[in-house]
Amino acid sequence: MTGPFRPTVAEVDLEAIRHNVRALKPDGVELMAVVKADGYGHGAVPVARAALQAGATWLGVALVEEGLALRDSGVDAPVLVLSEFPPGSEKDALEAGLTPSLYTERGLAALAGAAGRDVGVHVKVDTGMHRVGLWPPEEALAFADRVVDAGLRLEGLWTHFARSDEDAAVTTGQLERFLTVADALGRAGHRPRYRHAANSAATIRLPAAHLDLVRVGIALYGLGAAPGLAEEAGLRPALSWRSEVSMARRLPAGESVSYGHRYRLERDAWVATVPVGYADGYSRRLSGRAEVLLGGRRRPVAGTVTMDQILVDCGDDRVEEGQEVVLIGRQGEEEIRADDLAAWSGTIPYEIVTGIGGRVPREHRG
Ligand SMILES: Cc1ncc(COP(=O)(O)O)c(C=O)c1O
Repeated sequence: MTGPFRPTVAEVDLEAIRHNVRALKPDGVELMAVVKADGYGHGAVPVARAALQAGATWLGVALVEEGLALRDSGVDAPVLVLSEFPPGSEKDALEAGLTPSLYTERGLAALAGAAGRDVGVHVKVDTGMHRVGLWPPEEALAFADRVVDAGLRLEGLWTHFARSDEDAAVTTGQLERFLTVADALGRAGHRPRYRHAANSAATIRLPAAHLDLVRVGIALYGLGAAPGLAEEAGLRPALSWRSEVSMARRLPAGESVSYGHRYRLERDAWVATVPVGYADGYSRRLSGRAEVLLGGRRRPVAGTVTMDQILVDCGDDRVEEGQEVVLIGRQGEEEIRADDLAAWSGTIPYEIVTGIGGRVPREHRG
């Protein structure tokens, strides 16, 4: 195939990724770049490479398939799969050198059967998130014995925070419970090389949680898990989402635009058509709420977001086909952030960037 022909692109600044790794990595602590969901929509392989160049030593993925794709692209850094390997995937995952998370008897048995050589595992304990992990966390004591008896190596012990972006007391409580288990394991002779707990918010706000390694996702991309966090840590957003005006015309007052005619022009106005829609991840919930940047100014999205196109009310300002439109990013003095789209559509920036569709080409620079 040739192309892409469409003018709608997500541009990813890899220098921003490197800057963010350097800004986030605590001294003497390793950093895992969490590149699941195609690097939070930024492109897992280029992001992984940039993060490793800047000092990350681990990569984190949600799926075995995501780990295999990194290996197929020649990425050979340690990769932790953040949930247990699904049944049947163990052989492929181990052959590719992916590191397993472990927290069930079934997972342990499957791995013990498949592991032919020295395999380091990261046992996950549930300290309150109640998604996956050994519960209660004290179960890890007997489990660690069984891991070793099965011929596996206990390389890591880890947990995940439920509210590190909003509640320091709950997070500290989870951390204390985790450390109590880690200490008990140590007394029983299990001293994993890595104890890890911190996601982005805890990496920025709770140094006590840094331990041996931090697992950084959203902040790697320059976005905040909570309002103000990205700015607090001096992060740079890596992704900008741009398009161009595909059609422009002046419509008379009283005309209504897009499906349902939900937006009526109160006066004559220039209206621009932009080729991006909800099939690209520009949510229909942004209808009548979002703004874009066009001609250096913020402009309202007029009416309903359609599958492939939106309309933009430019008022008296003449617009022309081919003019740049910014959905996320800077234009002139103005900036629209993924956080803005999240607020307008009632979600979090994570969902905005991971939701940018596969048919939007990613362009990497830097
Ligand atoms: C287990 C685990 N660790 C770390 C992260 C990274 O979290 P964040 O993107 O908030 O840094 C995630 C992401 O959801 C995760 O599931």
